Amino acid sequence: MTESDAVDLPVTVNPDDPHRPAYHFLPEANWLNDPNGLIQWQGRYHLFYQCNPNGPFHGTVHWGHAVSEDLVHWEHLPIALTPTPNSPDQDGCFSGCAVDNNGVATLIYTGVRGPELEDELACVATSTDELLITWEKYPGNPVIAAPPPDLKLVAYRDHSVWKEDDAWYQVIGAGIQDVGGTALLYRSPDLLTWQYLQPILVGDRTETAPIVTGDMWECPALFSLDNKHVLMISVWANHTLINSSYFVGEYKQQLFTPEHRAIVDNGGSFYAPQTMLDNQGRRLMWGWLREQRSLEAQRLAGWSGTMTLPRQLSVLPDGRLTQTPVPELQQLRTNHQQFQQLVISPDAGLALPEIQGDCLEIIITLEADQSENVGLAVRCSPDGVEQTLILYDWSSSELIIDLKDSSLTPDVSHERYTIPCHLDSPGNIKLHIFLDRSVIEVFANDQTAMASRIYPTRPDSLGVRLVANGGQATARSMDVWTISPITSTPVKE
Ligand code: FRU
Repeated sequence: MTESDAVDLPVTVNPDDPHRPAYHFLPEANWLNDPNGLIQWQGRYHLFYQCNPNGPFHGTVHWGHAVSEDLVHWEHLPIALTPTPNSPDQDGCFSGCAVDNNGVATLIYTGVRGPELEDELACVATSTDELLITWEKYPGNPVIAAPPPDLKLVAYRDHSVWKEDDAWYQVIGAGIQDVGGTALLYRSPDLLTWQYLQPILVGDRTETAPIVTGDMWECPALFSLDNKHVLMISVWANHTLINSSYFVGEYKQQLFTPEHRAIVDNGGSFYAPQTMLDNQGRRLMWGWLREQRSLEAQRLAGWSGTMTLPRQLSVLPDGRLTQTPVPELQQLRTNHQQFQQLVISPDAGLALPEIQGDCLEIIITLEADQSENVGLAVRCSPDGVEQTLILYDWSSSELIIDLKDSSLTPDVSHERYTIPCHLDSPGNIKLHIFLDRSVIEVFANDQTAMASRIYPTRPDSLGVRLVANGGQATARSMDVWTISPITSTPVKE
C-alpha cells in the first residue's frame, strides 16, 4: 500500500473528463488494479477486480464486482470482499481467483494482515447466491498460514487454482531471495487444506532485457491451451512493476518445462492479467491498464486504472501466444467508413480529414513498398503538434507505439514502446486499433497486442493521418468505425 486512506478526496468523477474511457471497463470512481476471480456463472460473466473505494490510489484493497451478459456492457454490483477488522484480511483482500467447487462459487485470495511477508495469507470465501453478490469468508481462514519454511522468500501472494483429476492445485506468486521470481505449486483435496509441492519454475533475477523475470512473480497462472500449457507471470523487480510475460511449454506430473517465452503486452501500462475459460471453450484474458500520468492527475480525476478489452488467447504451433479482441465488441460499431488503395508518401504522409474521433476502431492492411516503417498517427492536432504514432518497422519486425508527441503535458509517459511481431506473409501487416480516449489498444496480424495510455491536452487532437518513413507505402484497405460508449449500470445497493 502506498498511501493512507485518510485523505479527503473526490468520490465522483467529472462526466466530461476527456480521458475517461467510454467502452473499456472501469469502476464508477476511484482506484482499480488487477482483474480477479474471472468466472462465468450461470451463463453470466463475472469480473472482480482489486479496488480502493476510498480514493483513486492504491490503499486498503477490496474486491470490486461487475457482471455482464455479453462481455461488452457491465452492471456494477456491490463490493464483493471487504477487509474484516481483526481478521487475516484486515489490511486488504489481495488478488486471487474463483472456481466452481461442485456448484459452490469459491474465491481463493490473499488476505493481508500487516506489512511483512508472513502477513500474506491464503483465504477462502464462498457464495451461494445466483449473482454472486454475497460472500461468506471461511471461518477457518487462513487456509495457508505461512509460506514454506525452507524457502527464503521476498513475497508470497496471489492465487490461481485449477482441478486436475480428483485434486485441486494452485500456484502462488513468490520470489526467492537473491535468486528470482517463482510460482509455488500446492495440492489440496478440498480447497481448505493445502500441501506444498515445489516451485513450478524459478526465474533468474540477474536476467536483463528484453525479457526480465525479476525478484518476484505476481499473479502467476497456469492453464492449458491448444495442447500446450501457458504459465503467465507479472514481474516485480526492485519494488517496481515491470511487465507481464508468459512461458509456453509442457506440464506433466507437476513439472513445467518451458519451450517459448515472450512479453504479453509491452505498451508500458498492461499488468497482472488473468484469464478464464468460457462456455464456448474460449480462453479470455483481461489485464489492468495502469495510468501513465502523475499521481496528482489521478487524484484530480477521481479515478485511476481501467481494464483492457476482453482478449481471446490461443497458442500457435511455434509456441507464440496470440491475442485478439472478442467479436462481441463489434456491436458497438457505428458510422462505418471504408477506404482502399491509399498511397502514403514518405514526406507528407496522408491526411484523412474525414476521420475524427477519440473513440474509434480502425482495421488497416498496410503494404511495405519502399518504406522502412509504416503506420498511423492518431489523436493528431490539426498542426501535428500533438499526435501518437503506431508503426510497424519492417527490418526489426517490431510493432511500435511512440508517445513522444502524444501530449503537451510533461508529466505523462512520452516513451516509445516496441514488441516483436513476426509476419507470416512478409511485406504486409494488419493493424487493428481501438482508441478509447486515454486508452490505445493495438492488435497486429491477429497475434500481437500492445496497449498504452495517452493524455492529449488539446480538444482538437482528434485527427488520423497515415505515415510512411524511408519511402512510399500503401494502405490496401482501411475500415473505420466510431465506437459507442458501453452501458455500465450503477450499483444498486
Ligand atoms: C499486482 C498486485 C498483486 C496483489 C495486488 C494488490 O498488481 O500487487 O500482487 O495481490 O496487486 O492490490
